Amino acid sequence: MSVHSSASLIEREQQSLFQVYRRLPIAVQHASKCRITDVEGNEYLDFLSGIAVSALGYGHPRLVDAITRQAQAFMHLSNVFYQEPQIEMAELLLQRTGYSRVFFSNSGTEAMEGALKLARKWGTLNNKTEIFAFTGGFHGRSYGALSVMDKPLYKSGMGPFLPNTQILPFNNSIALKNAVNESTCAVVLEFLQGEGGIVFAEPDFVNTMLELQEQYDFLIIADEVQAGAGRTGKFFGFDHFMVKPDIVTMAKGIGGGLPLGAILGTKRVESVWEKGNHGTTFGGNPVACAAGIVVMKELAGGVQQNAHDVGCYLRENLSVLQQNFPDIIQEVRGCGLMAGLKLSTSAAPLVEALLKRRVIANATAETVIRLLPPLIATRKDVDEFTAAMQDCLKAHRG
Ligand SMILES: Cc1ncc(COP(=O)(O)O)c(C=O)c1O
Repeated sequence: MSVHSSASLIEREQQSLFQVYRRLPIAVQHASKCRITDVEGNEYLDFLSGIAVSALGYGHPRLVDAITRQAQAFMHLSNVFYQEPQIEMAELLLQRTGYSRVFFSNSGTEAMEGALKLARKWGTLNNKTEIFAFTGGFHGRSYGALSVMDKPLYKSGMGPFLPNTQILPFNNSIALKNAVNESTCAVVLEFLQGEGGIVFAEPDFVNTMLELQEQYDFLIIADEVQAGAGRTGKFFGFDHFMVKPDIVTMAKGIGGGLPLGAILGTKRVESVWEKGNHGTTFGGNPVACAAGIVVMKELAGGVQQNAHDVGCYLRENLSVLQQNFPDIIQEVRGCGLMAGLKLSTSAAPLVEALLKRRVIANATAETVIRLLPPLIATRKDVDEFTAAMQDCLKAHRG
């Protein structure tokens, strides 16, 4: 592989791509397990994993092998054909979750788009129109997804959005009670908000939602794109509650690094779509599904348990940091390997300081450092992160 200096790559990027991303100043040469090496040979500990995508880390041998073998057999056919990897992946998901049907997409936003269409069609059949979602939620960049989000940066100047959608304050049971009624078609939420700052739904709020569902018979759509696929130590983020949403969206970690998304539905919605109602050319791509099969098997074979165990260890470490730096760290958030440090100050300078110590994390919701390491991360990786974080906090305090 040819080596380019970071500076030349950065300049070429600026001349060739729409400038929508705030990239880290790292041009990557190679990645392995939880480490990224840049073109200058510097090695970074990656506690972001491609924003919760590289669940098995980089270069996982069984993943690489499965992808290679599938690419040699066939790389793309379209959904005109029956394809073993797609069907096996669907079966694994259904066996693991108890859901009834799967639709494969390529991304999280596309899964949400389909989930909203599925809910709308169900609503048409049941005379229900209104869709509610919550502040702080993140569901993607397409119009359906943006219509169920509130953040101005993502939306301003790009309306109009879908009608009959409304954003309610997250974790506010009273607002929810006042909003839903017989015309409610669906409620969309992340039970554990990622972009929103690693914020769990509160048990009272979830209970209110379930009582209202009992009363008004709407659908619950859970966005598990970030919290799903074992990241929190359970398969779904909502598995931390006694709840079974009617529709679930997945993506990110489920493809282990290849573009794979999924919509899961219960029996309630399994016959809502008829042939031709929804579709995609690439969704359920056999190579992506071959990767997904490995992810599912590895999760069941110990990786999800690792996310739980190493996640507990991470939480203990973060709690010690909080005790030592209570003036900077207000709260330790999250579960498993989806963690957040809520700060009393802007998170960006600390994220920059971490990067100088060759540790990658990111800032979200302005004051939260978000940690999304690969699910194969070890206690040693956590120790290394903790030492770097401690250094940064000391330096920050001055
Ligand atoms: C919870 C959640 N939903 C949906 C999405 C959108 O996924 P994608 O970027 O694959 O479209 C994201 C992406 O960050 C996400 O975190």
